Parts: sequence; structure tokens; C-alpha cells
Amino acid sequence: MIHELTNPVTKTLVTHLRDQRRDAVRFRHTIAELTKQLVYEALHDFPLLDKTITTWTGELSCKTIDEESIVVVTVLRAGMPMLDSVMELLPEAHAGFLAMKRDETTHESVLYYDRLPDCKDKTILLVDPMVATGGSIIDALKLIKSREPSRIITLNIIGSPEGLDVVKSAYPEIDIFIAQIDERLNEDKYIIPGLGDAGDRSYNTVG
Ligand code: PRP
Ligand code: URA
Repeated sequence: MIHELTNPVTKTLVTHLRDQRRDAVRFRHTIAELTKQLVYEALHDFPLLDKTITTWTGELSCKTIDEESIVVVTVLRAGMPMLDSVMELLPEAHAGFLAMKRDETTHESVLYYDRLPDCKDKTILLVDPMVATGGSIIDALKLIKSREPSRIITLNIIGSPEGLDVVKSAYPEIDIFIAQIDERLNEDKYIIPGLGDAGDRSYNTVG
């Protein structure tokens, strides 16, 4: 199921991202802030455990997410600020890395690095800012599913209706939390209006 965030603060931050004047530091920072909003929405029904901690008045049983049951998987490069943001919120979660590059001629994603921790029976938060054709996220989901997690949730910033339809058809059981669904893809498979190339904008590169 696709969950598009409706909060006005979310929409304002998406507008900041689209603004070409936003430099790489502020671009990554805004991606990170949006990621935190996505995490709050995505985990709103996550089960809480009791945990005994030592407070200023002594031992106290408190509620907490079992952070170790969560694996945050990023798709390099543009997903890196999202991974850092989730790991700030949930510091005991595990991190996994996939490196993919869209071939700009065929527009297909190519996996060239896989460093996933044990995913069996874990909740996976797959983070990638852009869902354009949906090719990268589908390849990532196929690989992750083969590692037998209990649940997969994707966190994305901007998606095209076409790409999201492809992902939803291939994996209807997966929850997709996204800040903004845009209008369409252009002939080069970039999202319109989108924000350009998220990896390039994050790290001051071109192409
Ligand atoms: C971007 C983005 C997604 C992919 C989306 O990565 O981060 O992974 O494109 O496109 P798709 O839905 O058509 O597969 P890119 O390949 O540009 O790599 P980068 O993060 O290194 O810039
Ligand atoms: N990757 C991006 O970073 N942006 C797009 O619009 C499409 C793919």
C-alpha cells in the first residue's frame, strides 16, 4: 500500500528540496528531516517492548521499540543521508548497503555491491529518495526478500505514478511511505517536476 504524507511541513520541505539554490549540505539535511517524518509515520503501529532502565530515581520499566529487530537498507548514493537519519533515530538498528547505478542509456538499474546484514525475521526499512521507473527499488526488494525478513517498508521522498504502480503491482504486500507523488517521468526517465538527480545534488557531482 502506498502512503503519501500530507503534513504541510512535509510539503514545505519538499519545496525546499526542489529549489536549485539549496546547496548540498542543506539538501542532505532536508532529506534527513523528511526521512524522520517518514519514520514516524511508517512506525506508528510498531510494537513496543518493556525495557528496564536506570533513571535518576532508580530502576524503571519503560516502553521502547526493539531497535535491533530493524535493518535499515540504503541504496547508494542518494540514500545515504536517509540511512544516517534513521540511524540517528534508532541507533541500535542494523544497517545494510546496496549499491546500484541507473544505466542512463537503458534506464535500468545495475547492482554492483551488496552488504546486507542478517535480515531473517527482521523489519526492513528500505530507504531511497527517488522512485522513478521503479527499477532500482524492485531489484533491491527482490534481493531483500530472498533474505527472509518478516516485513519490508520502503521510505521514499519523491516518486512517479508510473514507478510506484510498477512497485505496487510487483509487491502489493509492501508498505511504501513517500513524501510526495509527482506528475510523471520525462523521456530520460527523470521525475517531473522532481528535483533533478538526488545523488548529484547531495554530493556536488554531475551525471
Ligand atoms: C537514483 C535514486 C534511485 C534511482 C531511481 O539513483 O537514488 O536509486 O535513481 O531510479 P529508478 O526508479 O528508475 O531505478 P542513481 O542511479 O541516480 O544513483 P546515485 O544515487 O548514485 O546518483
Ligand atoms: N534518479 C534521480 O535522482 N532523480 C530522478 O528524477 C530519477 C532518478
